[in-house]
Amino acid sequence: MNRLSLLVLLTVAGLAHSIQYPCGGSCGYRVSQSPYRSMTYSYGNVAYDDDMTRVVGGVGAAEASWPWVVSIQHPGSPKLGHWCGGSLISADWVLTAAHCFDKIENVSLLYVVIGATQFTKPGLGAVARDVKQVVIHRYYKRVDYRYDVALVQLERPVECSSYIQLACVADPTLRVSNLKNCWIAGWGATTARSQDYSDRLQEAKVQLIDVKLCNSTGWYPGEIHPYNLCAGYPQGTIDACQGDSGGPLMCQDNDAEYWWVVGITSWGEGCARPKQPGVYTSTQHFYDWIVYNMRVHAIESAS
Ligand code: ARG
Repeated sequence: MNRLSLLVLLTVAGLAHSIQYPCGGSCGYRVSQSPYRSMTYSYGNVAYDDDMTRVVGGVGAAEASWPWVVSIQHPGSPKLGHWCGGSLISADWVLTAAHCFDKIENVSLLYVVIGATQFTKPGLGAVARDVKQVVIHRYYKRVDYRYDVALVQLERPVECSSYIQLACVADPTLRVSNLKNCWIAGWGATTARSQDYSDRLQEAKVQLIDVKLCNSTGWYPGEIHPYNLCAGYPQGTIDACQGDSGGPLMCQDNDAEYWWVVGITSWGEGCARPKQPGVYTSTQHFYDWIVYNMRVHAIESAS
């Protein structure tokens, strides 16, 4: 084989193994960080005052802050309909946690809200979609939340806007542990005890915690899998909580503006306790699974 055809072959093979992003081919950009964002930011600040519900240590996010974060909803949920979080990774696929479907008998009752920040004031940027199918990792186990990863296909694709953008999924080459600016976001419980979910998306900055430390005595001895990430603070106080599951752990690229979804909120012992940080499914470990399953199940459902 000559060099040119080898190059062509490698390029084609390379394309087949990566995620193709619509939205002008971009992902992970917080579009509204432009002048438009500062405009809504003041509104956001006003809204904080009556909504100073701290997520376990977070604050209310400004409109369109995290435009790939979605809410998976269930009509039976008394908590403003919200059931789990998720990340939009293509025009019609959402990445979330497998355990979100433990108690769901009929996935066709679920729907997904995209482009919203506050449920009671979803605004013009928000859209809802029915669920076409749910793909759960075949090794997922309820007992210890192993392989806690799933994909949700929307009935119909969504269009990108300043409120709706795609997440960048961390690929196997990304050095996740080097990333410094990491955040979580979700509509989950704002205190460990409250069963109430938040009306406004909450956000908090967290630190990535070394998996070895996280897996050690006094923390979560032996419970952390090689494809998990831990994030939060050794002393607790800031963490994800019930209802944040499926949503993203996001880190900004070290050399660029955009953000990676590096983790999927999976579990934690209580919320915000010392030495019991949030445990996340590492998306880079499931990158190939994600790409492969989006493709296979899209073809299946189309035929
Ligand atoms: N399993 C929870 C859920 O279903 C997420 C828990 C995250 N907990 C934590 N302490 N970080 O919503």
